[in-house]
Amino acid sequence: MSKRKGIVLAGGVATRLFPLTLSISKQIMPVYDKPMIYYPISVLMEADIKEILIISTPAYINTFKELLGDGSKWGMRFEYKVQEKPNGLAEAFILGEEFIGDSNVAMILGDNMFYGNNLTKILKNANERENEATIFGYYVKDPTAYGVVEIDENKRAVSIEEKPQVPKSNYAVPGLYFYPNSVIDIAKKVKPSARGELEITEVNNEYMKKQILNVEVLGRQMVWFDTGTYDSLLETASFVQTIEKRQGIQICCPEEIAYKKGWITDKELLKLADKIIKTEYGKFLKELAKGKIIF
Ligand code: DAU
Repeated sequence: MSKRKGIVLAGGVATRLFPLTLSISKQIMPVYDKPMIYYPISVLMEADIKEILIISTPAYINTFKELLGDGSKWGMRFEYKVQEKPNGLAEAFILGEEFIGDSNVAMILGDNMFYGNNLTKILKNANERENEATIFGYYVKDPTAYGVVEIDENKRAVSIEEKPQVPKSNYAVPGLYFYPNSVIDIAKKVKPSARGELEITEVNNEYMKKQILNVEVLGRQMVWFDTGTYDSLLETASFVQTIEKRQGIQICCPEEIAYKKGWITDKELLKLADKIIKTEYGKFLKELAKGKIIF
């Protein structure tokens, strides 16, 4: 088992999706055929992370428990923690201190999805860096809504700014971060920003100053979405639908990853398939368990 543990941060108020999210958690909403949180969980699974802490709000934490349980159905272990208020992304490491223990940790935001050929390799590289941090850079047309990283010719970070009005580069920082255990202490020292949040960008700046921050550039063959607005939610769902219908495969399917990694048996997979057998999703899992899908 990987020594690195995982956190999925699935709290916040999601005001940009009101009224959709007035009485429902954003990260439970559908992205085509799966609850949104399946997508980030499957990324951590691809990184061989079996122990995950789900952080959400007092109002919705039980919804996630109901959906995901203790993780054993996917051969994993899930723990849960409440974030009382949206005090910022870096608070996750303070809330997760006990869960993280002396492990390294990867955090993914509950509304981020990644898909692409190279992903497994990129995650492996990040995972293997025991004493250094890794963030990612993704070229976008308009990076002003994101953390923005400026990179030199050696692919080292030169500056990282949160939602700059005048960005120094087009590289947005996606919501996926790999840190050594020291992130707990670093997060504790972060002061609230002007918007009153413990910013993840501050944590990244600390690692940059220590010269142990790696930036992996995600190439154009990689897809990254943050599903925080009406448009991006719909675009992500359309993307998933297009690929799944064309190829008859699943995107970010936790059951498939668990099975391929040997975390669950074919019998267990069939049981999961039976529960949703009226759907294409369930039929896919059944075919997979019977060895009919090979790629
Ligand atoms: O998606 C990538 C971006 O995520 C990064 O480029 C930025 O550097 C990072 O700050 C973050 O920006 P956002 O504007 O998307 O952050 P937002 O406040 O929307 O929160 C991101 C997710 O985390 C969202 O699904 C809600 C959740 N969240 C947020 C906060 C502030 C929490 O669970 N707790 C919180 O305290």
